[in-house]
Amino acid sequence: MKRVPEPELMDEPDQARAYAEADFDQPNTLFVDTFARCFPDFNRGRLLDVGCGPADIPIRFAGLFPELNVVAIDGAQSMITLADRVIERAGMSTRIRTLCWRIGQEPGPGDIQGLFDGVISNSLLHHLDEPETLWRAISKYAKIHAPVLVMDLRRPRSQNAANEIVEEYSGNEPEILKRDFYHSLLASYREDEVREQLIAAGLSYFNVERISDRHLVAYGRLSAG
Ligand SMILES: C[S@@+](CC[C@H](N)C(=O)[O-])C[C@H]1O[C@@H](n2cnc3c(N)ncnc32)[C@H](O)[C@@H]1O
Repeated sequence: MKRVPEPELMDEPDQARAYAEADFDQPNTLFVDTFARCFPDFNRGRLLDVGCGPADIPIRFAGLFPELNVVAIDGAQSMITLADRVIERAGMSTRIRTLCWRIGQEPGPGDIQGLFDGVISNSLLHHLDEPETLWRAISKYAKIHAPVLVMDLRRPRSQNAANEIVEEYSGNEPEILKRDFYHSLLASYREDEVREQLIAAGLSYFNVERISDRHLVAYGRLSAG
């Protein structure tokens, strides 16, 4: 099945609210567990989350690692507004700083370049028609040797297979969320496509793995040049 792009930002207030209210415990736990498996020594410093949405993953990282500070960025102001509320409720405002910034729209914030001891991103890649935007941002904002983990949906074989996944994992969720999930599956990349992106970005040494029936990860430590 060919990739069908979806809108890049999640800036519609209803869409952002439905996403923030949904239960992503399973994939977000998978994300944190995969990071710990790939980078067992990581526990402090500055972490960048690209496309943070309502900030559940930054809050999990800040909770796990008391000596970690997080910069969480998203291009959608609706998401940043929700994220700020959730971060404050979690008592993490001193440890997590949010920034409304759409990667690819240069110049990005100059004061964070080359600053990060780790870079993470969950479920952003499929939003990007120009995925090199994400790989370029990672190369620019991570320190050399910094761990990087990108997780995303993986495009199913057919629209039927995508429908089956939606029914299995979000059958009881509101219609707006099921619709977004379906479109996200159709917009997502497959392992071979992600490998090609990494080669083009000079990151061919990153690993690409399928880690569930609907997720893939790309991960590695940034190397010099
Ligand atoms: C599906 S959500 C994932 C949110 C969060 N990472 C999570 O795991 O729940 C994707 C987010 O990426 C944001 N996004 C899309 N394109 C972006 C860009 N170019 N720069 C920054 N954020 C972007 C969207 O606004 C949306 O909030």
